[in-house]
Parts: sequence; C-alpha cells; structure tokens
Amino acid sequence: MDFFDRQWATYRAVVDHDLMQHRALTAALGQALEAWLAARPAGSAAPRMVDLGCGDLAVMAPLLRGLPLGTYLGVDLSGPVLPRAAAALGPVPYPCRWREQDLLAWAAAEPGTEPVDLLHSAFAIHHLSDDDKARFLRLCRRHLASNGLFLWADVFRPPGEDRPAYVARYVDRIRSDWGVLAPEQQQPVIDHLSQFDFPADRDAIRRTAEACGWTWQWLWQGDHRAEALAVLTAA
Ligand SMILES: C[S@@+](CC[C@H](N)C(=O)[O-])C[C@H]1O[C@@H](n2cnc3c(N)ncnc32)[C@H](O)[C@@H]1O
Repeated sequence: MDFFDRQWATYRAVVDHDLMQHRALTAALGQALEAWLAARPAGSAAPRMVDLGCGDLAVMAPLLRGLPLGTYLGVDLSGPVLPRAAAALGPVPYPCRWREQDLLAWAAAEPGTEPVDLLHSAFAIHHLSDDDKARFLRLCRRHLASNGLFLWADVFRPPGEDRPAYVARYVDRIRSDWGVLAPEQQQPVIDHLSQFDFPADRDAIRRTAEACGWTWQWLWQGDHRAEALAVLTAA
C-alpha cells in the first residue's frame, strides 16, 4: 500500500467507525436537502450541484444517488480520489464531471453562465487559512443562484478557543475515545490535524460570512465541540 492508499485507509477507518459522526451529519444533510428540494418552485430546473473536496464519496454516494440533480461536479485537490468517487457513485441519471482543482481556485474562477444551485463541502475548507476562508466565502457567493444553498460540513472551534487548545483537545479525544484504531493508525491522524487543520472560530466565521453577503444557520452540531453543519444562503 503506498502513502496515499494508507492515508485513505485511515480516513476510511475513521468514517467506518463513525468517529467523526458522519452518520448523524449525513442524516442532517439529507433532511436539509429534502426540505430545500420540496420548497423549490414547481417547474424549477433540476439543480446543478458542486461538491468541493468531494473525496471518494464513500459517505455521500447513497445520498447523491437519490437526488434529482441536473448535473454534479466533484472537485478535489487530489486526483487519485476522483476515479474512486466516480466508482462509488456508480451510474446516476444526471451527468457528472470530475475535476482535480483547489477549491479556492474553483471559487476564484469567473462564474459560468449557469449558476450553481447546490454547493456542498465536507471537511475540506478547514485546511484554508482564515484569510483564505474569508476569500473563499466572498468568491463562492458569486457562483450561487439567488435561491441556492451552500451546505458546509466541517470542524469548527468553539468561540474563543485558540488553535493550540483545539488541537490539544482533539488529540486527547483521539487518544482516549478512538481506541478502535491502533496507535499506529491514530498517529497519522494526529500528525495531519496538528499540521494542516485550521478550523474556523464558529462566531468569527459566521460574522465573516455575513459580511460577505451570506445568511448563516447552524443545522447540526456533533457531540465534541468540533464537527458541525452550517447552511448558508444568499442574504
Ligand atoms: C477529510 S476528506 C473529506 C472527503 C469527503 N468530503 C467526506 O466528507 O468524506 C477531505 C478532502 O478534501 C480534499 N481537499 C483538501 N483541501 C482541498 C482544497 N484546498 N481544494 C480541494 N480539495 C481539497 C482532500 O483531497 C480530501 O479528498
């Protein structure tokens, strides 16, 4: 198994054992999508969806298969995950495209002629610095249709908790609650989050989003003051 496969195998184990509460998160996501689809005016065109940091779609594929989409675009910085995502999704009645791209670059590109109705991102945006998160929020607002929805699942910091305290707390959680993973599986997760995770302060990012023209609502909170799902709409 190469480095990439080992990293993905570890993430798969985290998801399979529900250590980041993907099950509850995906249920909340499904309910939000159902309500949004039901509220769309009759005769609306089938929604165009973009998934930023789509990964291998192991979690999202069953939900995506049931959505009445017009198109789906999966974007990920890592090229090797995209064929896995396509295979996990399997045949669906709407056209899918797959793009190896940085999500910030996607946001910075000029919007196409057809705006995005449904934007989704799970556990990817927290890798951006706070300045880049603000830039992303400002830029991606231009891509969304006026009645569109941006569902943002991620790790966030409780208000006032600084990054070192957050990282120390998450590392404690892994060491004490993730015993189902062997220590040699826990360590790469600890190394990765210590180096690459920059979760936003929940209150600060909400203020930033509102200043960029978004309305913000929390839809789901995990049990660990980290994982959460926010829904953003055009203000
Ligand atoms: C933790 S995985 C989450 C995958 C999937 N969204 C899920 O919830 O299972 C994070 C994914 O985001 C991608 N990613 C990280 N930073 C990114 C960026 N700046 N632009 C695009 N994708 C990114 C990674 O390659 C990886 O596939």
